[in-house]
Amino acid sequence: MVHLYVQVSSDEAQCMSGPTGGKILVTGALGQIGTELVEALRKQHGSSSVIASDLRPVEQVDLSQGPYLTLDVLDTEAIIDVCKKEGVGTVYHLAALLSATGEKNPELCRKVNVGGTISVFEAARVCSMRVFTPSSIAVYGPDAPKHAPQITPLNPTTVYGETKVEGEQLAKEYEEKCGLDIRGIRYPGLISHKAPAGGGTTDYAVEIFDAALKDGHYDCFVRADTRLPMLYMDDAIRATLMLMDESSEHLGESKAGYNIDCFSFTAEELAIAIANEVDGFTFDFKPDVRQNYADSWPDSIDGSVAKEEWNWIPQFDLDAMVKAMLDGLSKNQ
Ligand code: NAD
Ligand code: SER
Repeated sequence: MVHLYVQVSSDEAQCMSGPTGGKILVTGALGQIGTELVEALRKQHGSSSVIASDLRPVEQVDLSQGPYLTLDVLDTEAIIDVCKKEGVGTVYHLAALLSATGEKNPELCRKVNVGGTISVFEAARVCSMRVFTPSSIAVYGPDAPKHAPQITPLNPTTVYGETKVEGEQLAKEYEEKCGLDIRGIRYPGLISHKAPAGGGTTDYAVEIFDAALKDGHYDCFVRADTRLPMLYMDDAIRATLMLMDESSEHLGESKAGYNIDCFSFTAEELAIAIANEVDGFTFDFKPDVRQNYADSWPDSIDGSVAKEEWNWIPQFDLDAMVKAMLDGLSKNQ
């Protein structure tokens, strides 16, 4: 664990007692979740109050929907500068490498996922900001019960999973030592159609829809019987906003990484549900290395703590999600 805090200048230290409230900064905003979270936050708070940021140069981004800036989360000073200048009160920290990309480049995965999280927590400490930072079902390893409880030993076998466990531990440490308010959800695999999935193991559950509509066929990279917890993006965004709106006093020791109720299905059950809606859709299963990551994760998760503390109940089941995905993709075509 990293216990060292970045040294800040006396000028930066001035904002340490600043008020909460203020603008919102979203890191990794051009990814699968950020694309929809920024949209939802802008609806809630107004476009100019939500600053989207990512690695992409400004010239390559559509600025018509609201402010955007190029920001590398490894650059702590740049984050502090932006937050001071703009009066940011809350950071939604989404920048990360996902499991499949992360396992290909473990060093970069540790650097971005752990280093980037420390940068954001440091900026939050200096500027007294609240933080939302996602964890993942990848915190569990093969020794966890297949219906994973909120609290159980976390022994992931992927580097990505290790970075997510470390993120939760760092959040607790910053909360205990610096009094920060840091909240997180262990997102299951997220299924959406507005932005492509970002290099994860659960990407098959997103890609399959595009393939069904465009090619009429999908070769799935996990076995037919692979069962994982999943959630439709509308539910994921709603859960995120609900958690961030919840009063602190209701949130207990799991606040850095809540399991949330979602649904689970096998890859074959998903393919059949799509075939029931898309005439002529065929599929095959050709597992690759991502099968190992999927096998190390739980089949389903117990979200009773989130339900008890902030009343989380999902709205989409498998059939509703399949219909929403096909409707959404058909409109985009
Ligand atoms: P994504 O890969 O689609 O988006 C991540 C974004 O981060 C990308 O746009 C990328 O350009 C940006 N990024 C990478 N390195 C950066 C850096 N150094 N500085 C700034 N930006 C950088 O990922 P996502 O699916 O939107 O996931 C967001 C968060 O949610 C991650 O922490 C991820 O681990 C977590 N999560 C996602 C899922 C899922 O199914 N999508 C599930 C569980 C947890
Ligand atoms: N959906 C993510 C992935 O597959 C899990 O965090 O990487």
